[in-house]
Amino acid sequence: MTIPRPHPEPQPQPQPQSHSLRRHAPGLYATGGPGGGDPVGGDQANGDPVNGAPATGWTVATALPVSYRVRFAPGVLDPGNPALARAGGPPGRRLVVVDARVHELHGHRLRRYLTAQGVEYETLVLLAHEQVKTMDAVFQVADRMDSFGISRRGEPVLAVGGGVLTDVVGLACSLYRRSTPFVRVPTTLIGLVDAGVGAKTGVNHGRHKNRLGTYHPAVETLLDPAFLATLERRHVGNGLAEILKVALIKDAELFVLLERHGRDLLDTRFQSPGAGAAVLGRAVHGMLQELQPNLWEHRLERLMDYGHSFSPTVEMRALPELLHGEAVCVDMALTTVVARRRGLLDGEQAERVLRLMRRLELPVWHPLMEPVTLAEALADTVRHRDGRQRLPLPSGIGSGVFVDDLSGRELADAAGWLRGWSAVDRSGSVAVGTAWGAGTQVRGSGERA
Ligand SMILES: NC(=O)c1ccc[n+]([C@@H]2O[C@H](COP(=O)([O-])OP(=O)(O)OC[C@H]3O[C@@H](n4cnc5c(N)ncnc54)[C@H](O)[C@@H]3O)[C@@H](O)[C@H]2O)c1
Repeated sequence: MTIPRPHPEPQPQPQPQSHSLRRHAPGLYATGGPGGGDPVGGDQANGDPVNGAPATGWTVATALPVSYRVRFAPGVLDPGNPALARAGGPPGRRLVVVDARVHELHGHRLRRYLTAQGVEYETLVLLAHEQVKTMDAVFQVADRMDSFGISRRGEPVLAVGGGVLTDVVGLACSLYRRSTPFVRVPTTLIGLVDAGVGAKTGVNHGRHKNRLGTYHPAVETLLDPAFLATLERRHVGNGLAEILKVALIKDAELFVLLERHGRDLLDTRFQSPGAGAAVLGRAVHGMLQELQPNLWEHRLERLMDYGHSFSPTVEMRALPELLHGEAVCVDMALTTVVARRRGLLDGEQAERVLRLMRRLELPVWHPLMEPVTLAEALADTVRHRDGRQRLPLPSGIGSGVFVDDLSGRELADAAGWLRGWSAVDRSGSVAVGTAWGAGTQVRGSGERA
């Protein structure tokens, strides 16, 4: 599978390419039980009894190659642009699910577009924020797919909105008749660089973030940064946090771009010509480079989990105070301090990271960053990562390592130090350098060396 690149025209969906059916006769397993081992005598796929005995077990093996498209599509709602009307299938009928706020701001353009392209459509307008990201929202979408009478393969649902909306619609589509295609048009920065480009769908469940979900990528994602023009400033910063994640853990050049242009991108909402395209392009490419070889997350050491070790618990407990990217940023600030204290970053690098977070108007600390919550967050993450921490930490700027030995004491000390730093440096007036001489080991809790 290759990383999706922009293509001019949609391509047919892949079909399963390799499969086999093997039969096992009683007592003929080399190892394990039915389905667990190779039958003595090899493959038996021709309908004959196995060594004269009737088959009583079968092993089914199949492979489903996955291919989906992510591409920049400026002017996606321009009436003459066929990209959206043709995305994921022949033009025709479409169910369009739109975030309520996006509908208010861009609904008239969407209607004009669909009419101009001759699409027969119905619209479902959904409230989309973290507290309504639940199965109830999924059921609303499924009910509407039902009453619309959606075709199983030829009428992809169009999901237009931020990460909450596309996660909910993706889950509904993966469940409805076990799999229905959908197309994403992300309208937030997190959607453009993260939620809109991967394979995961999900909703929150109980007290847990994205606890119910599936892997079901949209057949096509169309990225139009023009939507960001109406996004609240805080939500632009929120998306910049996810871009900073990619920069910090795998792309030093992106980090430098953010240092130089991040504040301007926040001020202009990515609407001025200049660095915006490079920043978005690098962020999406970096994300896809990491996702593509491990799309189903069989390998649990994931660089893109950076900033997502403590943040799921902190975000859910702080709701609605912290946005997703803000919680990720608090987590990254904490683990930057941990990495600094371990000598994985030098003082100057750690200083650049925390300063950049501040310049992007992102939080670096939250009152929930206290030992009990952090220990619970880590325990939940260890469960999520099959019994090991597998904790990504920055190692210099632009690369990362995984550790398994973070202690509660180390965590508490780092959080204490960060709390002290964020209190003193709230205005940005106190230089981090006064607290962190390059190469200096930071000492005790809340203390500056
Ligand atoms: N599936 C994944 O791989 C993945 C990856 C990262 C994040 N996520 C999920 O994404 C969610 C966060 O996404 P988000 O930051 O887009 O939040 P969001 O979907 O809640 O959108 C943020 C706010 O912006 C509004 N909005 C959307 N587009 C707008 C526009 N163009 N102009 C003005 N307002 C607009 C929305 O109504 C909402 O109030 C989280 O639930 C997170 O778990 C999923």
